Amino acid sequence: MKEKADIGLIGLAVMGENLVLNMESKGYTVAVYNRTVEKVDTFVNGRGKGKNFIGARSLEEFVVSLKRPRKVMMLVKAGKPVDDFIEKLIPLLEPDDIIIDGGNSHFPDTVRRTKYAESKGLLYVGAGVSGGEEGALKGPSMMPGGSPEAWIHVKKIFQDIAAKVDDGTPCCDWVGEDGAGHFVKMVHNGIEYGDMQIINEAYHLMKELLGMDAFEQHEVFKKWSTGKLDSYLIEITRDILAYKDEDGNPLVEKILDTAGQKGTGKWAAVTALDLGIPLTLIGESVFSRCLSAQKDIRIKASKTIIGKKPAFKGDKQQFINDLEQAIYASKIISYAQGYDLMMEAAKEYNWNLNYGGIALMWRGGCIIRSVFLGDIEKAFRNNPKLENLLFDSFFKNAVETAQESWRRVCATALENGIPVPALTSALSYFDGFRNDRLPANLLQAQRDYFGAHQYERIDKPRGEFFHTDWTGRGGSTASSMYQV
Ligand code: 2AM
Repeated sequence: MKEKADIGLIGLAVMGENLVLNMESKGYTVAVYNRTVEKVDTFVNGRGKGKNFIGARSLEEFVVSLKRPRKVMMLVKAGKPVDDFIEKLIPLLEPDDIIIDGGNSHFPDTVRRTKYAESKGLLYVGAGVSGGEEGALKGPSMMPGGSPEAWIHVKKIFQDIAAKVDDGTPCCDWVGEDGAGHFVKMVHNGIEYGDMQIINEAYHLMKELLGMDAFEQHEVFKKWSTGKLDSYLIEITRDILAYKDEDGNPLVEKILDTAGQKGTGKWAAVTALDLGIPLTLIGESVFSRCLSAQKDIRIKASKTIIGKKPAFKGDKQQFINDLEQAIYASKIISYAQGYDLMMEAAKEYNWNLNYGGIALMWRGGCIIRSVFLGDIEKAFRNNPKLENLLFDSFFKNAVETAQESWRRVCATALENGIPVPALTSALSYFDGFRNDRLPANLLQAQRDYFGAHQYERIDKPRGEFFHTDWTGRGGSTASSMYQV
């Protein structure tokens, strides 16, 4: 009898192909299936030739070729195709078999599907996979969540194929229950938006304010890529800035300035609004992409609205040094906000999130990989109950040290009319966060004035509510006393 497969994969697009080639290279036999069955033959006789793959021509054939408990991983288009495959698989699978969704599913779908699969006696895993096509082949960052009982069955294979950091630790660990894996992947993508926006603002400042061309900026990024900003995104920016078009000029300057987006950053921002968490830097990053996409109207506005022309007066090198600090501090705020969102989600959805493990998973293999994530992991190792990253002594000191530079960069950008929404929103968050008295007392007074929404007082216990007849014309009825 033919050998059975250790795991099966549905969905032979590039990500799927690369992921199964990765699995096979680690010694696993993999069954493969695809809706368009010809792709199975093309793969098995092409990139998979001579390797340990079992090409299945039907789902039935695919399922019987798997060792039990069966592990069926889907890498298909997010949305209905995932639900359709689950429906088709359920009658073919047996209790304790495991369905794994490695696609970019939205976490509420994964919450729902986990419950559904469990109600049919199956186990379910929603795994965020990051690192693109190359990561899938050479080692992605993997963020699995779902039915906790599934973890022991998929742990070895997942950790074998995942990226490894220098000490050999795999960038894959159990994230938490039901949709937690896809949630964490969503936050990862939001953070990616933020990291990119911060870098874009630095580029814009060096270009418009300091008058530096791409090649000069390349030198700055080269230096930054060996310091505390060392990260994949700084490295690729360094390389992009040095890339010459056919005429010898920097290619980056010829690219149209309208950003695209696939929506995972937006999901993160919308989720933050739903949960009431100030995810300001990521939110600004999403909106910056939206503003960039309004190219036509921006062209019109640039011709009619008079603004400020940048004119830099000062020490250029000092400003570049300040910029490195501003990027670093803003990045700390962005991650602090991302963790705040995860902590709130853990409460809301009853997840036991592994915060240090999440930093480890992001440390290698994925787009936001950086040395910085090692420090986040350390912070949660030192204190697994850390309430906010800014309470960790390393990050607190880092932000305090960067503060003056960060303020100078923001002030100079604002004075010179260069938009820096990520850098400034991070700074405003920081100033709000560290302030025990914000102006919301006035806000509460306003709400009570026009809507009798009531307020609490600083000289009375929390939970005791007051209403004032501010004009002498209103009644003493507070809005909570009647239904509207
Ligand atoms: P295909 O090769 O038959 O198009 C990425 O697009 C992967 O998702 C591919 O393997 C693709 O299969 C699969 N896919 C896309 N839409 C699908 C659908 N509606 N049903 C099943 N598989 C789908």
